[in-house]
Amino acid sequence: MKNQLVLVLDFGGQYNQLIARRVRECGVYCEVLPYTTPIREITARKPMGIIFTGGPNSVYEKTSPHISKEIFELGIPILGICYGCQLMAYTLGGTVSTCITSEYGKTETFYDKSCSLFGADALPETGFSWMSHTDYISQVPEGFVITAHTDNCPVAAMADPEKKLYAVQFHPEVNHTEHGLSMLNCFVKDICGCCGDWTMENYVKIAIEQVRQTVGDGKVLLALSGGVDSSVCAALLSRAVGKNLTCIFVDHGFLRKNEGDEVEAAFAGQDIHFIRINAKDAFMEKLSGVSDPEKKRKIIGEEFIRAFEREAKKLGTVDFLAQGTIYPDVIESGCGNAAVIKSHHNVGGLPDYVDFQEIIEPLRLLFKDEVRQLGIELGLPEHLVWRQPFPGPGLAIRIIGEITEDKLEILQDADWIFREEIAKAGLDRSIHQYFAVLTNMRSVGVMGDGRTYDYTLALRGVTTTDFMTADFARIPYEVLEVVSARIVNEVKNINRVVYDVTTKPPATIEWE
Ligand code: XMP
Repeated sequence: MKNQLVLVLDFGGQYNQLIARRVRECGVYCEVLPYTTPIREITARKPMGIIFTGGPNSVYEKTSPHISKEIFELGIPILGICYGCQLMAYTLGGTVSTCITSEYGKTETFYDKSCSLFGADALPETGFSWMSHTDYISQVPEGFVITAHTDNCPVAAMADPEKKLYAVQFHPEVNHTEHGLSMLNCFVKDICGCCGDWTMENYVKIAIEQVRQTVGDGKVLLALSGGVDSSVCAALLSRAVGKNLTCIFVDHGFLRKNEGDEVEAAFAGQDIHFIRINAKDAFMEKLSGVSDPEKKRKIIGEEFIRAFEREAKKLGTVDFLAQGTIYPDVIESGCGNAAVIKSHHNVGGLPDYVDFQEIIEPLRLLFKDEVRQLGIELGLPEHLVWRQPFPGPGLAIRIIGEITEDKLEILQDADWIFREEIAKAGLDRSIHQYFAVLTNMRSVGVMGDGRTYDYTLALRGVTTTDFMTADFARIPYEVLEVVSARIVNEVKNINRVVYDVTTKPPATIEWE
């Protein structure tokens, strides 16, 4: 591997890590650095190219982020995006003005195909790009030519090919820009000369090295839930620090069928300190007679912390508490304070209860699909890496009303059949979350010659990009037919199966 690197300089835009991720998609390793990084630190990293991000400011405000002219004289190719584009123009003597008509959203854009950035065969002369700006370049700097425009923006892109300086007013990194990835690919390969040999296999080496440097001989503690993020985090840490890693897996008993054993099978044999706490009885006892959803959640959250704390205290002081925070969590929680917010969300306030010195979040720069790739690379089984999201309180909030051992078993069996049939139908990766809910309603049915009075099971399947809004999945009737027939025949005490056809909002994805 040639260890080629492209650096993204962050000017405060929303899509900074997304740019880095797109560059990695082109097979080139990429990292984000603050725009204040001294030039000598930038050159010490020997980047093949530099990308300036967007940002919310106007270049002519005194307090806006600026950059020394020196960076344009290093001979390193630079691509400016949005604010980065305006900053390049402004710093090099062009003029930036307030738009007569601001542009937001998909905008028809006309490209000059002779520009190396737009030269890919697949890239048409006209296409939609994603714009979001109130300033524009009214005059390009000396040496630059205009390489794209829209009806309202005379300089949608500009370039000084001799100096390898390129800039686009739109956002090539977002999906809404047609062929945006091709443009980035042209930049990093044709303009910067990267060969595109970076792979997840290489990233594993880098990530392990980074963890080792941070942790040294320190002791690391991880709360392992069995979800994708914490599992990949555990796999990475185990490769990096081995026996210095302790994973505590609190099995509250409300996992899906066989899931507790699957987690144990994936980690217990590794060269780490793995502790599984089978706390089902304690949880069941605390939940006895409780049917209010919020009370259930609270009890489970608190009991979870207590169980973890009891075990963690036995370890004495640990140096690092590891968390499987991933990049979308960081954005959702708002940057800056993100780690603190997420630590509470992830493991229910653990940092307040466990003695540790520092938090480490080795996945915090990765997107979900990169985390999955990393998991595969680290040798985790596919079923674990492709696990759908699962709420912390588990099946306890999918059993409406009071939880009993019987109901839990019924739900685990029914949910298992549903998942099995969805996978058989090849729908397990296109439906983002699907599960069974045991309603507390019973109704009359007939089985053989006899009357039954049994539970109604609800099936839920949703498609979503962010889980904030969701549509119900259009599962083919033929699949639902098989699922329903199998459940009423194979699972005791269910005589009716219904499918939830509500969107979010107004419903939520979970029933409780
Ligand atoms: P709702 O039901 O709010 O769910 O539409 C949105 C997403 O969040 C998951 N969810 C949880 N995840 N702890 C979690 O880690 C929880 O307490 C929790 N409750 C809901 C839910 O499964 C869906 O993916």
